[in-house]
Amino acid sequence: PNLKNDEILAKYVLSIPKAIRMNGLLLQGYLAYPKVLRRIENFEIRTDDIWLCTYPKSGTTWTEEILSLIFANGDIDAVSKKIIAERVLHLEIGKPFGHLKWLRSTPSPRLLATHLNVENIPGQLRQGKAKIIYVVRNPKDNAVSYYHHHRISTFLGNYSGSWDEFVDLFAKGYLVYGPWLDHVRGFWELKQRIPDSVLFVSYEELKVDLKRMIGIICDFVGHPLTENQIDRITSHCSFEKMRNNKMVNREELPVADLFDMSKSKFMRKGIIGDWRNHFTAEQSKRFDEIFQPELVKMGLPIVYDHDT
Ligand code: A3P
Repeated sequence: PNLKNDEILAKYVLSIPKAIRMNGLLLQGYLAYPKVLRRIENFEIRTDDIWLCTYPKSGTTWTEEILSLIFANGDIDAVSKKIIAERVLHLEIGKPFGHLKWLRSTPSPRLLATHLNVENIPGQLRQGKAKIIYVVRNPKDNAVSYYHHHRISTFLGNYSGSWDEFVDLFAKGYLVYGPWLDHVRGFWELKQRIPDSVLFVSYEELKVDLKRMIGIICDFVGHPLTENQIDRITSHCSFEKMRNNKMVNREELPVADLFDMSKSKFMRKGIIGDWRNHFTAEQSKRFDEIFQPELVKMGLPIVYDHDT
């Protein structure tokens, strides 16, 4: 897209600190080093790696905490001393959490996460060398959560534009990490190609039946647990517990000023359907028209509301 032809886009890109493009994908350069990004294609994958791939705000931290606890056999105390960013390592974030050298020196099995689109993840990962869990969230709630995240995040320029402009940016696919639909479709197509290596999990499924989904994730990663252990993880990963857990709610971080949580919390609402409090009827219709036919074509069911 041409910055000159789209004022809202130009204003947005200028508000992103050190905005960079990785093969066309818009990224912030505040936490990501261009030097790191250039080495990602050839980053060495281990067969026992577990990769969590998500569009931002679809339930990444939630799934990270679940994975971390699965590999700690449900031992809450064992994981409680380290913040989540030190237990599940982010690929493209260079500072302050680490860099590729740090990832390389981490013993197996590594738990790794990325928001990169499928075209930009390491080549060996695309070839099915390790297992990938992809978390998807309905695009309306995803947009609401990303909007609030933009407002509180220094590394995203503490977005000060309007909700209406943000909806437009999301619908056009102009935000950091690119178009939501292309992101989801890319990993969905990868799953069709290498079905045994990719598990799709939705935020809504986690919300509706967390215990069942933890069991499904255990099976997929080949780390079976007892019912008792799964129950412990389920209880620990409720929204209420995670909201008050400093190791995951971003209240404890190695550097100050990453977030301005006076406006909103990182663990904000944690529900299905908050989009109803933000979207106008017209905005909702616009999203339905853009996303629904494509999602139906893909055969990917998306849940927008839940009664409880
Ligand atoms: P909301 O902004 O809608 O509350 P990510 O980790 O990918 O950045 O996603 C953050 C979103 O997941 C936020 O959504 C956050 O509240 C929600 N979330 C995190 N932990 C959760 C949990 N245990 N239960 C429900 N939602 C959770």
